[in-house]
Amino acid sequence: MQERLQELQAEALQKVAEASELKELNDIRVAYLGKKGPITEVLRGMGKLSAEERPKMGALVNVVREEIASKIEEKQQVLEETAVHAKLAVEKIDVTLPGRPVNKGNHHPLTRVIEEVEDLFIGMGYTVAEGPEVETDFYNFEALNLPKSHPARDMQDSFYITEETLMRTHTSPVQARTMEKHKGQGPVKIICPGKVYRRDNDDATHSHQFMQIEGLVIDENISMSDLKGTLEVFAKQVFGKEREIRLRPSFFPFTEPSVEIDISCKICGGKGCSVCKGTGWIEVLGGGIVHPNVLEMAGFDSKKYSGFAFGIGVERIAMLKYGVDDIRHFYTNDVRFLTQFNRHES
Ligand code: PHE
Repeated sequence: MQERLQELQAEALQKVAEASELKELNDIRVAYLGKKGPITEVLRGMGKLSAEERPKMGALVNVVREEIASKIEEKQQVLEETAVHAKLAVEKIDVTLPGRPVNKGNHHPLTRVIEEVEDLFIGMGYTVAEGPEVETDFYNFEALNLPKSHPARDMQDSFYITEETLMRTHTSPVQARTMEKHKGQGPVKIICPGKVYRRDNDDATHSHQFMQIEGLVIDENISMSDLKGTLEVFAKQVFGKEREIRLRPSFFPFTEPSVEIDISCKICGGKGCSVCKGTGWIEVLGGGIVHPNVLEMAGFDSKKYSGFAFGIGVERIAMLKYGVDDIRHFYTNDVRFLTQFNRHES
């Protein structure tokens, strides 16, 4: 019996020494020290021993068990430590490795233009106003002196939603809405950037959806020279100090008199090139003196107040400023196009 015990001890210790994983070690523990293990079996056989031998054997069994248990414990510690080291080695972070490059986003060129124009006008005391893109016929046309029978409504082929609502064809309805809010009290000084919609077939210079920035100033004694001075500042700021502007007579139902505003061509400096079609001038916006009917309809006394309004095409500005030859580039989200603006500072 004693021999059997020593054999078992040797066998168990050998296995413990050889074990290389915690799971293996646990299996050994269960196999040798568990209730169904060989040592328990030896204990069961003690009934056959004499009363004298029994306590000796009992003590020996305990020694063997403790020896195996303590070796298992020791080995367990070693294996656990090794496991922690292995894990640390795998998870080690090399702080000297170069970082993964993060693709830096940038503002869309149209957003850049809008923000630049906003900054400029905010600096001149304007506030930014917004309005709905789904607009009523009243604000889009009627309040702007375009009654239902007005032929100018043919000029703007529109996306109607119902007979009375449509996708706004210009940002001018924000003019009408803002004036109404002021309840006949000047001054009003706003710009309103936003999307507008027209039933155009898309090509290099037309898009069924594009962006405008509308400007409106109402106060006492506002005249055409105020409009001209303001737009001169705008042209020089956005296109460069050397730019000049010229006003040509035009027609808009909501302004009288109305003008188209050209800037001297940036490409040829006014000599005439393919961009300005040989004229030396490029048309960039429309504007004029707010029609007295528009003022009156919005509750302003047209004898006391006068105002000017203008409308800027954002894409046109961006195309000229950045030398873009197709308006569709702005709307097709091609990163090869968009990333080119990373380098532009303004
Ligand atoms: N709303 C006009 C357009 O879309 C532009 C404009 C605005 C003209 C304000 C005059 C005054 O064509």
